[in-house]
Amino acid sequence: MDWRWRELISFIILCILWSKPICIQGTTNPTDASALRVLYISLDSPSRLTQWNANGGDPCGQSWKGITCSDSRVTEINLSGLGLSGSLGYQLGSMTSVTNLDVSNNNFGGEIVYNLPPNLKRLNLGRNNFNKAIPYSISLTTSLQYLNISHNQLQDPLMDVYGQLTSLSILDLSFNAMSGNLPQSFSSLSGISSMYLQNNRFTGTIDVLATLPLDNLNVENNRFTGWIPEPLKNINLQKNGNSWNTGPAPRPPPGAPPASRRN
Ligand SMILES: *[C@@H]1O[C@H](CO)[C@@H](O)[C@H](O)[C@H]1NC(C)=O
Ligand SMILES: *[C@@H]1O[C@H](CO)[C@@H](O)[C@H](O)[C@H]1NC(C)=O
Repeated sequence: MDWRWRELISFIILCILWSKPICIQGTTNPTDASALRVLYISLDSPSRLTQWNANGGDPCGQSWKGITCSDSRVTEINLSGLGLSGSLGYQLGSMTSVTNLDVSNNNFGGEIVYNLPPNLKRLNLGRNNFNKAIPYSISLTTSLQYLNISHNQLQDPLMDVYGQLTSLSILDLSFNAMSGNLPQSFSSLSGISSMYLQNNRFTGTIDVLATLPLDNLNVENNRFTGWIPEPLKNINLQKNGNSWNTGPAPRPPPGAPPASRRN
């Protein structure tokens, strides 16, 4: 028998006897594996991330903590509540199969990472110390359904970059220090059902939300002014702690659609 055959057969026998480890070594897509090694180094290599390795290893085959795979691709990174700090590295943007990134309840600070996985459906950055702004790159994650950046220290106004996020259904920006008016492109959030903007420093009116298919809206404890748009009066709305105008609402301009909820 050819030596190669003998080697292969003994490998298969070993695999059957040991069931697993050596047989699935190196199954992870090399781009994904490399991005996770960069992430690990950027997190200052915490030992709580069991199995993780800065120099090699196989995230999918060795079940790195918080990592979920489908075949050879990493699909989910969940590092919630692990007391992590440092940064999220610069290579997440190459992880094209990651749809779920949850780093909530940690000690991350500074600016939110610009290089986000491009096909994210769920992003949770809640309960950290991120500051400054939501990066422009959020406008490119057009599959996003759930975005949660609540309980951070974001201060800047929202950029007008939400025009492509038509799959977004839940947006939680509550408990930050964001200022400025709501961006005009919020009116393009055609899939939105719940929006949590409470406990910020937003100003201006909430007119841009008037035609959205919202079921839940919380705008409490901001600096909003103007009138509650008629369609939003029929939804689960929390609005205390603002400077609403109490006089009679102005008549809609001629030619404006009737203010009733479509559905
Ligand atoms: C991440 O893991 C935590 C617990 O470890 C869990 O509560 C949370 O739901 C998970 N997040 C996602 C998006 O699956
Ligand atoms: C957002 O994330 C925070 C922290 O994990 C959590 O407390 C909150 O309930 C989340 N909001 C939504 C709308 O899921």
